[in-house]
Amino acid sequence: MTIDTLWTVLRPLAFRLNPEQAHDLTLGLLSRWSAIFTGRLAENDIARAPGFAVETMGLRFPNPVGLAAGLDKNAEAVPAWQRLGFGFIEVGTVTALAQPGNPRPRLFRLPKDQAIINRMGFNNAGAEVMGQRLERLRARGLLQVPLGVNLGKSKVTPPEQASDDYRRSFERLGELADYVVVNISSPNTPGLRDLQRVEEVDRIIAAIQVPNQRLSQPRPLLVKLAPDLADADAIDCAHAALQAGCAGLILTNTTVRFEGLTGSNEGLSGGLSGKPLFTRSTELLSRVRAAVGSTPVLIGVGGIFDPAGAAAKLAAGANLVQIYTGLIYQGPGLARRLLRGLER
Ligand SMILES: Cc1cc2nc3c(=O)[nH]c(=O)nc-3n(C[C@H](O)[C@H](O)[C@H](O)COP(=O)(O)O)c2cc1C
Repeated sequence: MTIDTLWTVLRPLAFRLNPEQAHDLTLGLLSRWSAIFTGRLAENDIARAPGFAVETMGLRFPNPVGLAAGLDKNAEAVPAWQRLGFGFIEVGTVTALAQPGNPRPRLFRLPKDQAIINRMGFNNAGAEVMGQRLERLRARGLLQVPLGVNLGKSKVTPPEQASDDYRRSFERLGELADYVVVNISSPNTPGLRDLQRVEEVDRIIAAIQVPNQRLSQPRPLLVKLAPDLADADAIDCAHAALQAGCAGLILTNTTVRFEGLTGSNEGLSGGLSGKPLFTRSTELLSRVRAAVGSTPVLIGVGGIFDPAGAAAKLAAGANLVQIYTGLIYQGPGLARRLLRGLER
């Protein structure tokens, strides 16, 4: 049975479960699938069509559609994502210390708005567990696409020690990643978004560069920003990240602005993703591209549900794109559907 057929059977069931149960069930199945199958694709698969390949950051991306961070926080189902046609896979957010995240319920579907609100709070098994998992994955030699590792700050670490916390995670995981993301834009860890200031970006990237520059091949670093920053502040952070040696930025994380929703979101707090995020995240992407010029790498994410959405991000200056919420509503065939649409 293919993963797509499995999804057709599972979707109605999954949408009857509460969102986090549905997530856990799906990830559990994909993880078991990944333990058995390789996830290797045939050379003639659309996800390997030569016209889609993107060479950037010293890496070869077989196609520009990636899995966004947060869906596979502990790198449990990498071969399955590869099998679904993703051109790259970003795992995490992972923190130096394992942590349970916020109390449930913390994940909410907004079907009328084709959106999700989450306040997961970086629930994850920690850098050590991910490290062991990535070592096994590398040893099996199955990866056909670049693997990004997205790092966050452990909740118990005070903000003034944030750079040490990111450095610790990097020391365990940097060498196992093809690129590393510094996530300073999740709304669900108190104080995290305050790190989106020039001095903090400087300090965190400088701390990570110490172990990074010791690697025989230093890894490309990216900083992930929030759509709620004023344009000028996002551009300042972008310049700071690039000056500190980053390869680029990911635009954007979820928003805490819930304006314009048609369904009820009463009493909900956290980060909003999906269709309502599309306009602002694409706008910020194009402003940052205009400010930084053509060289830095920009990954566009936020509200992509169809090929037109992916094409709009690329036109706004993205080298690569990522999806999360679209996958929940459109199903696991979305990566290939985007590619088929882009091909035309
Ligand atoms: C349930 C959920 C959990 C997420 N967790 C993370 C995370 O751990 N780290 C991160 O950088 N982004 C996280 N994100 C943000 C996504 O990576 C992405 O930036 C955002 O959802 C916008 O894309 P989308 O509209 O395609 O979902 C999460 C999003 C959702 C919906």
